[in-house]
Amino acid sequence: MTMRAVNVSDGISWVGAIDWGLRDFHGYDTPRGTTYNAYLVQGADKTALVDTVKLPFVDELISRVSDIMDPAAVDLIVVNHVEPDHNGGLRKVMEAMPNARVVASRAGVAGVAEYHDGLEIEAVGADDVIDLGGKTLRFLPMPMVHWPDSMFTYVAESKTLLPNDAFGQHMASAERFADEVGYHLALTELSIYFANILTPIAKQVGKAVEKLDATGWELDVVAPSHGVIWRGDGIGKAVDGYTRMVAGETQDKIVVAFSTMWDSTKTLATAIADGIASEGTETVVFDLAESSIATVTHELLDARALLLGSPTLHHGMLYRVAGYLQYLAGLKPAGKLAGTFGSYGWSSGACKQMNGQLESIGFELPFESFTQKYRPTTQDIQDAREWGVQFARAVKER
Ligand code: FEO
Repeated sequence: MTMRAVNVSDGISWVGAIDWGLRDFHGYDTPRGTTYNAYLVQGADKTALVDTVKLPFVDELISRVSDIMDPAAVDLIVVNHVEPDHNGGLRKVMEAMPNARVVASRAGVAGVAEYHDGLEIEAVGADDVIDLGGKTLRFLPMPMVHWPDSMFTYVAESKTLLPNDAFGQHMASAERFADEVGYHLALTELSIYFANILTPIAKQVGKAVEKLDATGWELDVVAPSHGVIWRGDGIGKAVDGYTRMVAGETQDKIVVAFSTMWDSTKTLATAIADGIASEGTETVVFDLAESSIATVTHELLDARALLLGSPTLHHGMLYRVAGYLQYLAGLKPAGKLAGTFGSYGWSSGACKQMNGQLESIGFELPFESFTQKYRPTTQDIQDAREWGVQFARAVKER
């Protein structure tokens, strides 16, 4: 059976793969799976494949190319990014396309050699134009958005940008376009991807959007390497979404995340959240033993503060809280407040440990931690609620 290619714009077709089963993308949980998008650009004289796919999905890509043409007749392969979800299948794709030149950014050439045991390909840059006959490929290196090798490819005649991971989302779907799955879902997934992958390079993403704007390239279609494709008014929505996230736009919102042993810290979390909500501040509560860290991190994206709770075990925090702090240490969310709370038995080391790590990540901690011994009494619960009220007021004042 030949799998179907999907027309994206004039002369450009989606020939990627759908990974319905992916549930973990290097630690970021992906409940909707993902896609590895690759695009065939057909000129009057030559055909180019822009990006390949993760190695186990190469047969799917080749099948979709075969829906249009003989893969052996492809003339050019563009490697926009060397991360294995796009470049892992390169050698196998090259076997099916033995006549194809392979190009990447200068850093991409080095990256491909590293990943594929010395494989030699050619470098292209911002000054290069590859003419396919009525369709031209232009390149915009985007170092550190999000790897040194990252590059955008643009097809002027089709007003189509192929920006690899940028504007992507981890979402498998039968539909290929954002307007088909619905903008609410597509933009939510765009922001989940941003929160969990792009947060530490938000400034570079902002510069990338400016650099793209400065090209003056007209855009009818923005086709990333994951998830659905943006076209028409969807492009403005995606760019606006990036602009807001890059600016760190937040709401009057506090995320409460905790882990618990015998439900005492959970009781405190619930009381604190009730106090926050009584001030009219939005709040969401997560038990880290039950929750996806990608979801917690996504909720934190537009929140002003994080309250982290852990009881004390062996003089420190529970491992799930430590794991989440390690995840945040990589992402380094900027400009947010934090506080800690938790119950303890006979020594209270968890909050001190959490405070130190939150400060080193860059959170500002305006309040003393809220701690309580053994089981929360009625008074403890009232005090925890009041602590939530006071924290919400402090966040509002900022
Ligand atoms: Fe989708 Fe950075 O790879």
